Amino acid sequence: MCGIVGIIGREPVASRLIEALKRLEYRGYDSAGVATLEEGHLARRRAEGKLRNLEARLNEQPLHGFVGIGHTRWATHGRPTENNAHPHATERLAVVHNGIIENFRELRDELTGRGHRFVSETDTEVVAHLVTDEMDKGKAPIAAVAAALPRLKGAFALAFVFNGAPDILIAARQGAPLAIGYGEGEMFLGSDALALAPFTDTITYLEDGDWAILSREGVEFRDAEGLVVERAKQKTQASAFLVDKGNHRHFMAKEIHEQPEVVGRTLAHYLDMSSGCVRLPFEMPFDAASLSRVTISACGTAYYAGLIGKYWIERFGRIPVEIDFASEFRYREAPLDAAGLMIVVSQSGETADTLASLRYAKSQGQKVLSVVNVPTSTIARESDAVALTLAGPEIGVASTKAFTCQLSVLACLAIAIGRARGVLSAEREQELVSQLIGVPGLMAEAIKREASIEQISYGLSKAKDVLYLGRGTSFPLALEGALKLKEISYIHAEGYAAGELKHGPIALIDESMPVIVIAPHDAVIEKTVSNMQEVAARGGRIILIGDDRTAAESAIDFHGHISMPPMPPDFAPIVYAVPAQMLAYHTAVAMGKDVDQPRNLAKSVTVE
Ligand code: M6R
Repeated sequence: MCGIVGIIGREPVASRLIEALKRLEYRGYDSAGVATLEEGHLARRRAEGKLRNLEARLNEQPLHGFVGIGHTRWATHGRPTENNAHPHATERLAVVHNGIIENFRELRDELTGRGHRFVSETDTEVVAHLVTDEMDKGKAPIAAVAAALPRLKGAFALAFVFNGAPDILIAARQGAPLAIGYGEGEMFLGSDALALAPFTDTITYLEDGDWAILSREGVEFRDAEGLVVERAKQKTQASAFLVDKGNHRHFMAKEIHEQPEVVGRTLAHYLDMSSGCVRLPFEMPFDAASLSRVTISACGTAYYAGLIGKYWIERFGRIPVEIDFASEFRYREAPLDAAGLMIVVSQSGETADTLASLRYAKSQGQKVLSVVNVPTSTIARESDAVALTLAGPEIGVASTKAFTCQLSVLACLAIAIGRARGVLSAEREQELVSQLIGVPGLMAEAIKREASIEQISYGLSKAKDVLYLGRGTSFPLALEGALKLKEISYIHAEGYAAGELKHGPIALIDESMPVIVIAPHDAVIEKTVSNMQEVAARGGRIILIGDDRTAAESAIDFHGHISMPPMPPDFAPIVYAVPAQMLAYHTAVAMGKDVDQPRNLAKSVTVE
């Protein structure tokens, strides 16, 4: 959840550490810090809050060292204060950390007993003292790190710089991602390739248990046993992507507007437009004839994409699908049949719970297919087959384009499963594919509703609570709409299956309650209209996301209507996601909230 960087170079590194941290700020922004060696001696600058505070500090008190580390924090242990900000340091070293040291209390007690003095509330500080303790026994930095690492339990990516040792940086990885980057007479490390993209397009990902000793000339990799090992270099595409907002005020706005293009690109990857068929660019990792069940595991928005995928796979593939939050799935010891397929969905490909679900499924003999946006991610690397979403880097913490690309891929997978199992006819496949081909154009149409959405959002920004309703595939979209609104506006919002309303939540309805109903003209529209009538009869303020036909047929006096273009219903969630995202976006903007970096959140959740 935090981002770490390191550079060992031939010129001052502070400004480049900041540049890399800007690309990692999506991982956390509670505090930031850097440490460099100034003429061989450690110097640190840290600041509470966003990176710009650290930049201001560095402007007042610059650092000039040629070797250094940096950190942007999402707080786990200890409040988001400057004192808890990384790097944590002793008189011998400074360290930055992403992850959680689970046994930090027992280590701290042990080290306190040996005279170490702790000054922060973090788990990370124990790492600094553990390595220092080994150095106090006379070990050099490499030997001290080698002795300390096996004592750490939990997930971590670490980077160390040592007082009086300007020629090395040490990095280690256990369960949290870490990339090493290659330069000309300089070396880099970072939590992901995107952070290093301005400096290099050649990287190596550390494997779990690996650690690395960086010098200006190169890197030596060691495995968990301390043996020197080879790790492959790879070229990364990350530098090809410009991480800027274009003409938009926020990354989220840019990413919403990019959707017709990236969904089109993703669909083109899976569809043969000329024959009107799905063509998967990988081998399905299961035998279609004996496939017994599909299990989906994911978190947050990716989970809601999976939930819509369940409807599609059951409808088009005629196979039972079970879905669970990855944080629940990983611990509930679900019996998995070797003839089943596990699908994990993740934008980052690094979400700790989703990765643990993947590993559990593999331990039970299941094949795993991942739907991921980052091809070099841990989840992608550990899967039996990878279905890429071609959304490009998603920077806004609120997931938008990754979601609609995940839906696009899941729609294609559902069709492919149906065809492979012989339960979907070629004619139906062609009909569905032609609907999918129309989706990017419909999304572009939906984007044109932005002015009316902005107006409705202004009213929404005064609400204390908001209900989202939907039936069928619109139900998961109602959950996603509510999640989008709460995470960036901090308005309490709940998504409900429209038919469940009368089983409790209808008690909440009064004149002050906006109820957003997601209602494409599908097979259950009459039922959804009945549910809207129930809300209207109790004075609820209904905002309809639906086409003009639904609005006219229901004869309800809507408080607001986002008029959607008419469309075939099967893949309507991909299009209807757009107004749901825009409602959340404009509501948060109207409230003056920090849309791209909402409080308490981070983009990539690599801790449990
Ligand atoms: O990277 P992942 O897709 O695995 O992330 C899963 C969730 O953390 C993520 O979707 C989160 O819910 C978003 N902030 C929602 O907008």
